[in-house]
Amino acid sequence: MKRMALSGALMLGLLAASSVDAASIFGGQGRAAAVCSQCHGIRTPSADAPFPPLAGRDFEYLQTALKQYRDKTRKSDIMNAIAGSLTDNDIANVAAYYSGLKP
Ligand code: HEC
Repeated sequence: MKRMALSGALMLGLLAASSVDAASIFGGQGRAAAVCSQCHGIRTPSADAPFPPLAGRDFEYLQTALKQYRDKTRKSDIMNAIAGSLTDNDIANVAAYYSGLKP
């Protein structure tokens, strides 16, 4: 029994190490689903919503925009408040997620 538990843990370790990209996209997806999509929608943003669509946008663009909101070099009461609590890692994850979605 002990041996099985050990090899299971090893397998998990290997899986985790070999799927870094998938993990970062998944992390972005979780956060995006929880927070961002309430305003930005995921696949079908309403045409008259004041929220710019994010799906399929350029990774660098999304990352830069979020850092500017965080630094308040780009002003938006809503986005300044939201981006203020994001780490560089969060920003990279969420930008990877949205840039990988089909608009
Ligand atoms: C409460 C509503 C709301 C939530 C939640 C929200 N946003 Fe926004 N977002 C906005 C609005 C409104 C704008 C337009 C602001 C402006 O004029 O610059 C915006 C703009 C943006 C832009 C710039 C898009 C462009 O075309 O330049 C990005 C990138 C963005 N949001 C990402 C995010 C991410 C990532 C999250 C989740 C962590 C998020 N937003 C959560 C309302 C929201």
